[in-house]
Amino acid sequence: MTPMFSLEGRVAFVTGASSGIGWGIAQGLAEAGAHVVLNARNKERLQLRRDELAAAGFGASIADFDVADHAAGEAAIERVVAERGRCDILVNNAGMPLRQPAIETKLADWQRILDVHLTAAFTLSQAAARHMIGRRSGRIINIGSIMGAIARPSVSAYCAAKGALAALTRALAVELGPHGITVNAIAPGFIETEMTASLVKDKAFYDYGCRRTPLGRWGIPADIAGPVLFLASGAAAYVNGAVLTVDGGMTIAL
Ligand SMILES: NC(=O)c1ccc[n+]([C@@H]2O[C@H](COP(=O)([O-])OP(=O)(O)OC[C@H]3O[C@@H](n4cnc5c(N)ncnc54)[C@H](O)[C@@H]3O)[C@@H](O)[C@H]2O)c1
Repeated sequence: MTPMFSLEGRVAFVTGASSGIGWGIAQGLAEAGAHVVLNARNKERLQLRRDELAAAGFGASIADFDVADHAAGEAAIERVVAERGRCDILVNNAGMPLRQPAIETKLADWQRILDVHLTAAFTLSQAAARHMIGRRSGRIINIGSIMGAIARPSVSAYCAAKGALAALTRALAVELGPHGITVNAIAPGFIETEMTASLVKDKAFYDYGCRRTPLGRWGIPADIAGPVLFLASGAAAYVNGAVLTVDGGMTIAL
């Protein structure tokens, strides 16, 4: 590992780490030397992931809670700091889709999407930043989406949440930067995960995604893990408030 990218001795907290992009990120950060705290709601699934990392010789622990439970999130960050003495990296990744026409979307579903994608990122960042400020160092990385900047029909709540997450990234970057903390976001394009399984199965849509992308394929979780490692590492020391699009070129192609 090039020293610039090494996370040896760091502690990283990754939400939504039991599958898909979050699991890919957790593996990437662990391989770079970080102790990774895996969050999701299902404890058994997290234990299997932790055991998988341990079998590969990596340090990991679990924190099972719903990210929309803000008190549980705050307590989990405090526990990590108490047990490990630090929380250097927070990756706000947990999320789920809501594919519904705007005029049929119920207020409770809209609110749930905002709670999980946006408000949880805010409250977990608050909890982590309170600790990071004391160390004058920290990295917060939000997993947004290309849907934060562009749109397609039937994902209005998701687009609103991801657009606001990009704005929150900039707001926290200016406020926490003076304390030595960087706040950045990744905006993935079409990535093959459980969340997109039904879209991947739809051959016409899958092929559309390939055609629409200059690299000619959908992304995989490892395609996001590398850019997150970059943002978490010393290599990105001067990157702050950026929303890095990782979409194989989809959104720059006409
Ligand atoms: N897959 C894509 O094409 C794509 C594109 C852009 C952005 N994203 C974003 O990437 C992130 C990860 O998505 P994915 O595609 O890997 O999906 P996924 O379904 O494979 O993984 C989502 C993870 O979040 C967890 N999770 C969901 N709700 C949670 C909650 N309330 N509390 C705690 N954990 C919760 C799940 O258990 C799982 O571990 C999401 O924020 C998503 O919006 C995905």
